[in-house]
Amino acid sequence: MENTREQAIENAEDISSNRSGNETFEAVRTRRFTRRGVLKGALMAGTALAIGSRLPPAEASAKPSFVFDEIHHGVDETHHVAPGYDADILLRWGDALFADSPAFDPQAQSADAQSRQFGYNCDFIGVIPLAEDRAVLCVNHEYTNEELMFPGLGRQDKADFQAMTADLVAVEMAAHGGTVVEIVRGGDGKWTADVNGKLNRRITAQTPMRLSGPAAGHDRVKTGADPDGMTVLGTINNCAGGVTPWGTYLMAEENFNGYFWGKDGLDAHPEAAALKRYGAPGEWYAWGKFDDRFDITKEPNEPNRFGWVVEVDVLDPTSAPVKRTALGRFKHEGAETIVNGDGRVVVYMGDDQRFDYLYRFVTARPFDAGNREANRDLLDDGILSVARFNDDGSLDWLPLVHGEGPLTEANGFRDQGDVLISTRQAADLLGATKMDRPEDVQANPKTGKVYVMLTNNSKRTADQVDGPNPRAENAFGQIVELTPANGDHGADAASWELLVVCGDPAAADIGAQWNEATSANGWFASPDNCTIDPDGRLWISTDQGSAWSKSGTADGVWALETDGPLRGTGRMFFRVPIGAEMCGPVFSDDGETLFVAVQHPASDGVKNYPGFERDSTFDDPATRWPDFEDGMPPRPSVVQITRQGGGKIGV
Ligand code: FEO
Ligand code: CA
Ligand code: CA
Ligand code: CA
Repeated sequence: MENTREQAIENAEDISSNRSGNETFEAVRTRRFTRRGVLKGALMAGTALAIGSRLPPAEASAKPSFVFDEIHHGVDETHHVAPGYDADILLRWGDALFADSPAFDPQAQSADAQSRQFGYNCDFIGVIPLAEDRAVLCVNHEYTNEELMFPGLGRQDKADFQAMTADLVAVEMAAHGGTVVEIVRGGDGKWTADVNGKLNRRITAQTPMRLSGPAAGHDRVKTGADPDGMTVLGTINNCAGGVTPWGTYLMAEENFNGYFWGKDGLDAHPEAAALKRYGAPGEWYAWGKFDDRFDITKEPNEPNRFGWVVEVDVLDPTSAPVKRTALGRFKHEGAETIVNGDGRVVVYMGDDQRFDYLYRFVTARPFDAGNREANRDLLDDGILSVARFNDDGSLDWLPLVHGEGPLTEANGFRDQGDVLISTRQAADLLGATKMDRPEDVQANPKTGKVYVMLTNNSKRTADQVDGPNPRAENAFGQIVELTPANGDHGADAASWELLVVCGDPAAADIGAQWNEATSANGWFASPDNCTIDPDGRLWISTDQGSAWSKSGTADGVWALETDGPLRGTGRMFFRVPIGAEMCGPVFSDDGETLFVAVQHPASDGVKNYPGFERDSTFDDPATRWPDFEDGMPPRPSVVQITRQGGGKIGV
């Protein structure tokens, strides 16, 4: 039974839309380790892949990269941070972003008020410095939970949206998108939002934005309201994202399919097969009931205008955000960038669905650090590639270029616009490797290594993994480390290694693999977002959905060693309240503040929360974090973590 919208999202992915015959990553991995002869009977015993033998054991002399006392696994109604640190609320759903923003009134929220306030379900966080102790904070608002936002409503996707109204849908649309807000740091080292900041803006599901790149103006993105196929209203389901080297904000559109209506008309749709490959229409929200553009029977091309990466020039609050079609169309988790040695910019991206792919975009031109204007349209020209993992530990980046290989008119690709609008189908033909839900992908600028979060894939079957592999039902995920050939992120090849295989290493049937130095609290499950701090250290945040009851801990932030004898050792730093997921970890550029996003508190898996054991609603939530006031619902919030007395975090 679904009891949260997150599970609705998960279940929509239960039937994989990827029908291609491409190999699964598990199959490749199994063969690879078999070939290396390190399995040592583990497969036959039905336990773990014995990659632990490849993780160096901790030595008494090994010095951790991270210095803090870790917190304990657990689940309760509030957040927890390592001793000696403060975790303060920076922005909550409904907080004012402008001097004239209406006060938050959860009993009578309106679209007008919401469009001047911090949105719902904060996910990605970007920080763009402006001056000493002043920065622009960029925050995605991924989706909405009507049962927690509106009094007396309850879950509407389970009730044919009977109680939804045009006004409530308008609030939902205004609660989506992103927030751009100036923040200032006071003498106490804590940040506050500056409601008078000239750069403050809200981006919503109704904000006009421009299409650019090869799919702009394509026949398949033209609609009744936009016959030129150049202007889209809004962005939706913005999960993770990125900040470019030239200081713009990238918002990744993820589960856009869920917002469209018209299942009954799907088979008659001219692009039925293409829509199915993306799981559209999902009918997870009531939007199609009140707005024809979210009904595929009325506006057949509208879904093709979502699933992109959106670039926002935060220094110009009047600028139209731009959907950069050259970066492909899929369920974009994030879009993290790195400047390659030759100056070109590389964007790493995951397509978060079971059995979907890992992508990379390399710009045609180099980044110009001395001329911001010269980088304005850098993301319009370049090569999008998809990853194929090979048995020998290598990886090939396969370019998605019209006219090359199978990407021809004979296979339905008339031009590069077709390749990009149907990125998934193009990648299917190239033979990309089917992954366990690629989430955040991030390069470490200090080492050149790239970290790929593979969150879980409970639907991988034994016959997809070439043997009795206990990770066939991969409930806990893993992290893969890529090493680009010759340190070149633009190279056609890379090598890959597993960094950790997640879950409880003490439970043999799970098959987790961690460094032996990992404590009972240091392991985690379902890595989702990650960040690299200014010292080049890796931090992971998790999203277990309702599966926290399997791990016994709420989501949180863990530090993870990547090098030396402690490689593969986790350490728990922060924990979210019941029902939340942990998103958006990012450090201030001096490493003294860690910003994190607590998304959907009181939502996921609360039926399993001892003593509560029912679905949360606005009127009866599992927690009222962070305000804990009668009548005030739980509020998704950005939290700032600082060290008591000041200084860098984790040193
Ligand atoms: Fe919105 Fe892939 O998590
Ligand atoms: Ca995510
Ligand atoms: Ca990240
Ligand atoms: Ca996730």
